[in-house]
Amino acid sequence: MMEDLLDRPMLPFAELTGSWRFHSDVEGIGWLTLDTPNAPVNTLSTAAILELEELVERIEGLAAKRELLGVVLLSAKDSGFIAGADIREFDDMDLAALPEALRRTHALFERIENLKIPVVAGIHGFCLGGGLELALACHYRIAVNNDKTRIGFPEVNLGIFPGFGGTGRAIRQAGPVDAMGIMLTGKTLRAGAARKLGLVDKLVRHRDSLRWEARKAVLQKRRSTQAPITKRVMAMGPLRGYVAGKMREQAAKKARREHYPAPYALIDLFEQHGNDWRAMLAGEIEAFVPLMGSTTATNLRRVFFLSEGLKKQAAKGHQFRRVHVIGAGVMGGDIAAWCALRGMSVTLQDLDMDRIKPALERGKALFKKRLKKRFEVDTAMLRLQADPQGKGVARADVIIEAVVENLEVKRKIFAELEGQLKPGAILATNTSSIELERIAEGLADPARLMGLHFFNPVAQLPLVEVIRSSFNTDADIGKGAAFAVAIGKSPVVVKSAPGFLVNRVLMPYMLGAVERVERGESPELLDAAAVAFGMPMGPIELMDTVGLDVGQSVATELGHPVPEGSRFAELVRRGKLGRKSGQGFYSWKDGKAEKGETPVHADLAGLGRELVQPLVDTTEIVVAEGVVANADLADIGVIMGTGFAPFLGGPLQARRDGRA
Ligand code: NAI
Repeated sequence: MMEDLLDRPMLPFAELTGSWRFHSDVEGIGWLTLDTPNAPVNTLSTAAILELEELVERIEGLAAKRELLGVVLLSAKDSGFIAGADIREFDDMDLAALPEALRRTHALFERIENLKIPVVAGIHGFCLGGGLELALACHYRIAVNNDKTRIGFPEVNLGIFPGFGGTGRAIRQAGPVDAMGIMLTGKTLRAGAARKLGLVDKLVRHRDSLRWEARKAVLQKRRSTQAPITKRVMAMGPLRGYVAGKMREQAAKKARREHYPAPYALIDLFEQHGNDWRAMLAGEIEAFVPLMGSTTATNLRRVFFLSEGLKKQAAKGHQFRRVHVIGAGVMGGDIAAWCALRGMSVTLQDLDMDRIKPALERGKALFKKRLKKRFEVDTAMLRLQADPQGKGVARADVIIEAVVENLEVKRKIFAELEGQLKPGAILATNTSSIELERIAEGLADPARLMGLHFFNPVAQLPLVEVIRSSFNTDADIGKGAAFAVAIGKSPVVVKSAPGFLVNRVLMPYMLGAVERVERGESPELLDAAAVAFGMPMGPIELMDTVGLDVGQSVATELGHPVPEGSRFAELVRRGKLGRKSGQGFYSWKDGKAEKGETPVHADLAGLGRELVQPLVDTTEIVVAEGVVANADLADIGVIMGTGFAPFLGGPLQARRDGRA
C-alpha cells in the first residue's frame, strides 16, 4: 500500500498513508500532517516513524528537483501536536534491537534537519517528548499562544530521558541550563515560556493562524537561531563540571540515583558532552538503552498506565457545574477552593461567615499560586462563594459534606439536605472513619449517599477514594468517579470499611514505627530508613504531619488503640499534636521538623523494608477482603494516597518482585 502510494506521481491533494497525510499546494509548499489512526492524540509510533522515513525520502527527491519550496509539519488532532512516542510499545520492546531503532530515528531526524528547503513545525496543544524532539529537528517552530499549549520533556517521569536526539537539540536551542532544567524536572512549559527559552521561535494567537504563519516562514526561509554564547558558556570548559555538580545536588534533593537513575544518567551525559550537541546526540543512544530496560522504567510505566486506567471507573455522560460544600474547615475549605480552581461554581457553607472567611483566604492563596494571570485569579474568586445559609444546595450538581467527624451532626445535616436536592445530584460525605451505612440509615433513599474521601493537603494529593456503601449502585459510584475526574483528581473506588484503603494500610506502618520509638529506637533513624527504601517521608514525620490526635482516633477506629501512658498518649494529652502545634515526636519550625543526627546504620534500606512490611501485608489483606476490586487498583491507590515508592510499582508489585 505504502509502496504504491509513493510510486504514484505527486498529486495536489491529500494522500493517506496511515499516520501521515502529505500534499503540496500550488505555491509548492508541502503540508505534512500527522493523524494517528483511531486515537485522540498523535503519537510517534514505530509505524509512524517508518512512514515518515518514506515520506522524507520523497520530500528529499522533490526538493532536489526544486518541486518543493518547503515543508510544514502539523497535527490534524484537536488535542495537540504530538504527545510523544507510543509508550504502549515500550513494554514489548526488544532491547537488543533498540540501539539500531534509535540510530534509525536519529538518522531520520538528521535528514529532516539537513533538508535544503525550510521545514517548519506548527504546534498547538501538547508537544511533548518525541513530539518536541521532532519539532526541534525542524528549522523553525511556531506555537499557538493559548492555555492549551504545553511543551516539554516528561520522559524522566517514565524513568528515561529524551532518546530521539532531544538532549542535544534542546541544549543547542535553549542553552545547557534551561534545557537540562526542563529535561530533569519533566515540567511542561506554556508557549510563552518555551519561546523565552528558545525552544519555539514565533507565537501566534490562534490555531487558525498557524498555517498562514508557517507559510510565511517557509517563503521567507526563516531559521531558528541557536542559544547565544552567554547561555552556552555554562557548558564550556571547567564550568560544565561545576554546573553538573550543582545539577546532581538538586537531583539528590528529589530522588536517589539507585531509585531513579535517569536524571543522573542525563547529568553524566551532559558532563561528558554538554558543550557539543552532536556529541551529546551520539552519547544519548548508549546511555538511553540501559534506562529503558531498568525495572524503575518498567514500574513507572506501570504506574502511568494504572493511573490513566483510573479514569475508566468514571461513568460517561455526566456534567458537573455547581458544587456545594458544607463545612469550611481544613478539608471543606480546601475542597471548595480546589473545585473552584478546576472551573466549578462553588458555594461554601459553615455555621457563620467568620468560619468561612479563612477558607476564602486560603482559596485566594491557592489561585494566586496556580493561576498566572490576575483576571484568572479574580474569576476563580468569583466562582468561590460564601453561603452561610446553604442557598446553593438546591442548584448544586454535587454536595460534599465535610463537617466535624460526628455521626449525629452528619445525620442531621443529611436529613435536612435530602428534600432540597436537585434530582440526580451527588450527595457525598468526606468522612474518614464513620461507616457510610450508619450516616445513610436515616435517609429516605440511602442509596443517594456516597463517600468522596479527599486527602490532606487537598491541592497536593491526587487521590480521591470514592466510597461505596452497601446501598450504592454501580451507576452511583461511576458518577462519583466521574466527578473526581472532572476536578482533575484520581478516583479509586473503595468499599465502606474502616480506614477505607489508604488509612487502613498506613496506620499499621506508622504505628509499628511509633512502637519502635516507644522502645527507644531513634525516630531520625526510622525516618531515614523509610526514605532510603523509597518512601517520600518517614513514618514518624508523617505521624507528626497528619497530627497525633487524628492518628490516635484513626488507630482506635481500626482497633489499635494507643496504650495509656505511652509516649504517644502523653504527647496527645499535653496537646503536642505534631506539626500543627509545633511539637510532636519532633519539634517543628516553619513547617519543618527539627531533626537530630541520624545514627549510623549498616543497611538503611533494609531497615526501611522491614518498616513497610505491615503496609504491604495490609494491602494484601485489603485486596483479599474485596475492599478494593483488585491488586492493581490497590497499588495505584496506595501510591497516590501515600506516596509509596512509585519506582517499585506499588506495594504488591514490589512484593511480587521480591523487593518488599
Ligand atoms: P474541621 O474541624 O477543620 O472543620 C469542620 C468544619 O465544620 C468547621 O469549620 C465547623 O464550623 C463546621 N461545622 C460543624 N458543624 C456544622 C454544621 N452543622 N453546618 C455547617 N458547618 C459545620 O474538620 P476537618 O479536619 O476539615 O474534617 C472535616 C471532615 O473531613 C471530617 O469528617 C473528617 O473526618 C474528614 N477528613 C479530615 C481529614 C484531615 O486530614 N483533617 C482528611 C480526610 C477527611
